[in-house]
Amino acid sequence: MSSPSSNRCINVQWRPLLFILAAILFSYTIFTTLTRVDYDFKSPLSASAGSCRPGYGTTGLHHELVKPPGLKVIAMVFYGRRDRTQILHCFLMRNLVDQGGWLDEVHWIRNTDDQQDLEYLDRLLTYSDRYKQLFQERTKDEGYSDAWSKLEPGNIYVKIDDDVVWMADDAIPRIVTTKIQHPEYLLVSANMVNSPLMGWLHYRAGAVHPYLPEMSPEDTPATIHAQTQSYEADVHRVSWKHIDHPLWQGPDEFVFLHDEKAPREGHRWLRLPETPASTAQLRRTPVVDITYDTWGTGLQSWAIAAQHHYSFLENLYNADLQLYKFAADAKPWITDYDRLSINFIAINSTEILSHLPIPSDVVDEEWLTVTLPRSIGKSVAVDTQALGAHLSFFFQGEVTSTDLLGRYLDYAEENVCREV
Ligand SMILES: *[C@@H]1O[C@H](CO)[C@@H](O)[C@H](O)[C@H]1NC(C)=O
Repeated sequence: MSSPSSNRCINVQWRPLLFILAAILFSYTIFTTLTRVDYDFKSPLSASAGSCRPGYGTTGLHHELVKPPGLKVIAMVFYGRRDRTQILHCFLMRNLVDQGGWLDEVHWIRNTDDQQDLEYLDRLLTYSDRYKQLFQERTKDEGYSDAWSKLEPGNIYVKIDDDVVWMADDAIPRIVTTKIQHPEYLLVSANMVNSPLMGWLHYRAGAVHPYLPEMSPEDTPATIHAQTQSYEADVHRVSWKHIDHPLWQGPDEFVFLHDEKAPREGHRWLRLPETPASTAQLRRTPVVDITYDTWGTGLQSWAIAAQHHYSFLENLYNADLQLYKFAADAKPWITDYDRLSINFIAINSTEILSHLPIPSDVVDEEWLTVTLPRSIGKSVAVDTQALGAHLSFFFQGEVTSTDLLGRYLDYAEENVCREV
């Protein structure tokens, strides 16, 4: 079984050119490896998961998306937690311009007082000269507004939360392109797995599968990488592939609701067997309670979040990511004026700066997705072609009782930040 990220659809006539490119890249990699970098960050221009599928392969990243000359794209990360950030770091390195990506810089905003987390950030900063840190006067929620005033004008910023644990290779180029081409959108969000609004769409579109938490503790997790020490510890690496795990077993009448407690620390969710009655199987799972609502179960329920993630990892493995996307020539999903989570968005710094400050009684997310767009008559758009996954919201703390972080770490280490 080939991995979904392998280059399966490269035209034969390109092979000599690719060989030369590969040789150049190889020499460069050796050079940089010897000088500093410890990891081989695969180029985002390699075929991504799902890129051979109908409706996606025809709009390959290389042909369609070209970074405008002179445009500076800066990622802005409110940094707090090293266990998640070790994953995001790999995706960001891979998206740097040196690797063929679109990011000229990554601005890490120190948003924690935890000493170990800060030491980890200090280590991260040594990975690239394009990694910079920003200090802000206040930490946590208060500090969010402060950071917006430190934007440098004239750039496109991609604001990414530190627990974005997966992104498609074309996610950043796509949201940046959509933002530039459509000034009528104040911001363009990626299409996020585990998003209160988009989660309802994903479920209704058939991207969510019947998964239930494993109830029998005697099974051992598929620790196929048990010998591989994850390089920043804390997270136990577990195979991200659903096929390395058994099917769910239990009584037919078992149902797990969106508001139930996690069965135990470190548990996993397993796939219900595929039968002609799969739709009925879904009705035993938490996602059936999801609503199209900023403050609804899609935000509040750790179980719905978990089901989104396990389903997504299955779709990723099966190269079925088109399940989340509208047609390539379709318009984006417009959220005017429901509050949208801003885990992964593109904005124009000049535009934002011209409207600051954010009123003190409004949080940045409300301001960016409701207050400001409404007052200046602009829209907020979700580019459904630009996929990302966001681990958990504050209300979904029990997501960390699953093995999901270990699975995303496994995916990243296998496909994005492989050690050389
Ligand atoms: C950002 O917004 C400013 C002000 O509206 C505009 O002049 C500029 O062209 C925009 N930049 C990009 C890259 O779209």
